[in-house]
Amino acid sequence: MNIVLGVGGGIAAYKAAELARALVQAGARVQVVMTRAATEFVQPLTFAALTGQKVITDLFPAGGGEAALASAVEHIAVAQQNELLVVAPATADLMAKFAHGAADDFLSTLHLAFTGPILLAPAMNSNMWTHPATRANLAILRERGCHVVEPEEGFLACGVTGPGRLADPEHIAGEATRLLTGRKDLDGETILITAGPTEEPIDPVRFISNRSSGKMGYALATAARDRGARVIVVSGPVQIPAPAGVTVIPVRTASEMRDAVLRHLEDATIVVKAAAVADFHLARVAQQKIKKTAARVSLELDPTPDILSEIGRKKGDRLLIGFAAETQDLKQEAKRKLESKNCDMIVANMVGQQGTGFESDDNEVTLVLRTGEVVDLPRGSKRDIASQIFDRALQLRLALYAAR
Ligand SMILES: Cc1cc2nc3c(=O)[nH]c(=O)nc-3n(C[C@H](O)[C@H](O)[C@H](O)COP(=O)(O)O)c2cc1C
Repeated sequence: MNIVLGVGGGIAAYKAAELARALVQAGARVQVVMTRAATEFVQPLTFAALTGQKVITDLFPAGGGEAALASAVEHIAVAQQNELLVVAPATADLMAKFAHGAADDFLSTLHLAFTGPILLAPAMNSNMWTHPATRANLAILRERGCHVVEPEEGFLACGVTGPGRLADPEHIAGEATRLLTGRKDLDGETILITAGPTEEPIDPVRFISNRSSGKMGYALATAARDRGARVIVVSGPVQIPAPAGVTVIPVRTASEMRDAVLRHLEDATIVVKAAAVADFHLARVAQQKIKKTAARVSLELDPTPDILSEIGRKKGDRLLIGFAAETQDLKQEAKRKLESKNCDMIVANMVGQQGTGFESDDNEVTLVLRTGEVVDLPRGSKRDIASQIFDRALQLRLALYAAR
């Protein structure tokens, strides 16, 4: 296990020494990177002694010249040599920088160059932790697939009691090793995922779309990546950041999505169609903006290509997982779709309910499998649901092979 431990400038920096020791004891080679502020709290020598490695504190070492050139590429080398980036304590400042892609010191530059999993252990004053800016930055980082060990409640060094105390270093070390040695049961798979809505143009300024946020598709991509898969996401226009380490192919219309999916079908071992593809597109797209002069405008719509059916015909041995968003007769519709489109699994979700479905972070779905099984998954985060979908997909593949 090769781990980079990024240490931010907070009071809890001294506890990062305990974390470094726990990681080394767990068998990891630990490269410590300290921010300049962190060195105000703890001496780099402490970490060097605990890890047996030189501690990195600067992007450009004092003296400049050739030494600076060597250091300027060091952040790329460190990014490539390590499998996990743990940041503890993750300061409010570091989370803001990571969320917005700043790269003005070694740790933030390394963060941008790093493609593996990232584990953040925030620690700060309670008001800083609950501030809307910190909440928003954390939400961005979570969306992007960062793992977070939440701070604990307790008496803080600033004299207040509340949330913000760094989680127990042993617990952080446990999470770090779990991330690295956890299941890699999708290793060797190439998973092609579609995500988000499509947009069908009406005229140069208007389009028809739907309320899909892409969150379910991106959660699937993150879960598959963490379990060792190579992931390709064909994504309609979304407002959420792409998970690191996955290939994202941006598309706009249903027809573009079809072309991109077919281009990558050959490589895929599992295809998950989580996108909400428009069912209709304009028979004729107006070349100029439609003026507001007529009392009524009629739009003539033609069906878009049925991507799921087409993959169903061409899928060969690949597992094909489709999604069905329904407002009524959920299970019957899912079963009909499974048969008619030659899918192996349909993930059916009732849309229009509070707190699940489009735009929300949670979901509640029913899996309808080719074996005839129907599994209701309890409400959970889209990330949890994504993981359970892959659990079932792997079981299903074994059952389908065994039945041959
Ligand atoms: C005594 C002291 C304690 C601090 N403790 C924290 C803390 O626990 N968490 C935090 O986010 N910032 C804390 N700060 C503020 C950070 O040090 C400051 O935002 C700094 O710019 C962070 O730099 P870095 O993110 O590059 O490490 C503290 C500052 C001081 C002076």
